[in-house]
Amino acid sequence: MDIGGSGIKGCVVDLERGELVGERLRIPTPQPAHPDAVCDVVAEIVAGFDWTERVGVTFPGVLKKGVAHTAANVDHSWLGTNLAVGVEERIPGTVTTLNDADAAGIAEMHYGAGRGREGVVLMLTFGTGIGSALFTDGVLVPNTEFGHIQVDGEDGEKRASASAREREELSYHEWARRVDRYLDVLEAGVWPDLIIVGGGVSKKADKWVPLLSTRTPVVPAQLLNDAGIVGAALAAAEGIHN
Ligand code: BGC
Repeated sequence: MDIGGSGIKGCVVDLERGELVGERLRIPTPQPAHPDAVCDVVAEIVAGFDWTERVGVTFPGVLKKGVAHTAANVDHSWLGTNLAVGVEERIPGTVTTLNDADAAGIAEMHYGAGRGREGVVLMLTFGTGIGSALFTDGVLVPNTEFGHIQVDGEDGEKRASASAREREELSYHEWARRVDRYLDVLEAGVWPDLIIVGGGVSKKADKWVPLLSTRTPVVPAQLLNDAGIVGAALAAAEGIHN
């Protein structure tokens, strides 16, 4: 299950192949996205698959032992709420919860662009915000929040997320300049061996990735929209959680 600001999506996942089994279910995120309303939708989707086993659930903020510690792009009533408990109360199976970008990163490391890559790999997801997942020799350092580094006095994701491009009607060229500046500041503090860029805009990677001037090689994600769901399932199966 992948909880996002606009939609909540779920599917059964084939963990051998890292692929969805059949069609995913998507229900718009209730507005306001209060914890009870969101957990109800998660349970509805799980019931839609008649699923009684373990479930992995992502959240677009910092989670520690299931509890939300930040809520940059979701309702602030999430702060201090235990997502794992909220979902577990409503479904038959047990629940593993983790940050959405950490889940997408886990999927890319296992099945996609990071497969077999050692050293330090940084996955960044460009969407409503900027999510990050940091790996060292394939092991996740959970809850990095590189979307919120300060870039020229502003929250990084405010200027360089994919939603900033849409909101301000920027061309890929204009937006790439902002991403480049964002990565410049990020690279002052971390020295990854590879950066994987994900989120919907990674489908159009040829329009902006070649314009970047990073010292670190940048490659597009391979799992695209399904990375969060696949990573959630893998995390549930392997007991990786935030
Ligand atoms: C949140 C991260 C999240 C990212 C992508 C950011 O605003 O702070 O936790 O991974 O958005 O949803």
